[in-house]
Amino acid sequence: MVYVRNAWYVAGWSQESLPPRPLGIRVLNEPIVIWRSENGDLAAFEDRCVHRLAPLSLGRCEGEKLRCMYHGLLYDRGGRVVEIPGQGHVANNLRVRTYPVVERYGWLWVWMGDAAAADEGLIPPVTGMDDPEYICGHGQLDYYAEARFVSDNLLDLSHVSFLHTKSAYSSETWAREPPKVSEHRHGVRIERWLRGERRHHSVDTNADKLADVYARYDFFVPGVFLMTDDAYPPGTADALDGQPPPDLDRAPKKFFALQAITPLTEKTSRSSYIMAAHRDHGGAAQCDATMAVVRKIFAEDKAMIEAQQRIIDTSPGWRFIATSADRGVVLYNRLVETLAREESTSTAN
Ligand code: FES
Ligand SMILES: [Fe+2]
Repeated sequence: MVYVRNAWYVAGWSQESLPPRPLGIRVLNEPIVIWRSENGDLAAFEDRCVHRLAPLSLGRCEGEKLRCMYHGLLYDRGGRVVEIPGQGHVANNLRVRTYPVVERYGWLWVWMGDAAAADEGLIPPVTGMDDPEYICGHGQLDYYAEARFVSDNLLDLSHVSFLHTKSAYSSETWAREPPKVSEHRHGVRIERWLRGERRHHSVDTNADKLADVYARYDFFVPGVFLMTDDAYPPGTADALDGQPPPDLDRAPKKFFALQAITPLTEKTSRSSYIMAAHRDHGGAAQCDATMAVVRKIFAEDKAMIEAQQRIIDTSPGWRFIATSADRGVVLYNRLVETLAREESTSTAN
């Protein structure tokens, strides 16, 4: 499968890389260690000591440096070996590969491509754990499945009508009413009215009443999902002739769901997710209730996607067909293929 390399991937949570404990993770099958110096600066290296390839994520942060805890080689923040215990001379060229790393929205983002092209403007424009207006719950879930299948699941929420009937109490509207799908600079946007629906996260104080719900989400390259929705009195969708509610972007969002899908290895991936409720709209109580519901929802997604992967693994020459519900999937995957092709062309030149 094709993945974009010139992109920021979520590699962990801010609170995971605190001294003296580095964080080890794989992204696009590359072992990476992220660590924070005493001054609070982040660094990301390949997670492989130059000496005998021990993982540096089992090492120790020492002030502004990182020590491999196998035989003690010491690295500076630039990835250069600056001390070999018991040896006076250290060759200048002893270094590990470094990756650009940025902390934003409570996440650690690693740039997997050409470091000279790392542009912080390409971090998806979302909002996250660090937004003081929201109370956030968070979690992560690992899948035995290719990241692209987890992304496809989020790009086609028609499955909510069938896979999540018990957990999300959803009607078949998600599947039967086609959403509006559009492309933008960073990915795709999918939005729809759900007439006469319960709110999908089902924790609104008016959850038992039917409402017209407007649900909108963006899916940003390389795999970041940001969704918000709001409930309106029945009949609003028709009164607006199916157009988005005019107040959608004016008022602060009552709720948002954020998810980042990270390809760990070829066949494993991680979802890092945040459920956020605005302080003026339920705050902590709503957040806890939402988290309880989404844990059930995500368990259903995981079971289905992993079962799908197992079938695919034993289906030589497999292929998908696209239905009308796959418009977002097709548009997004085409965008990723185009970006990846542009990358390989610019690398070849
Ligand atoms: S493997 Fe790192 S010091 Fe030996
Ligand atoms: Fe789902």
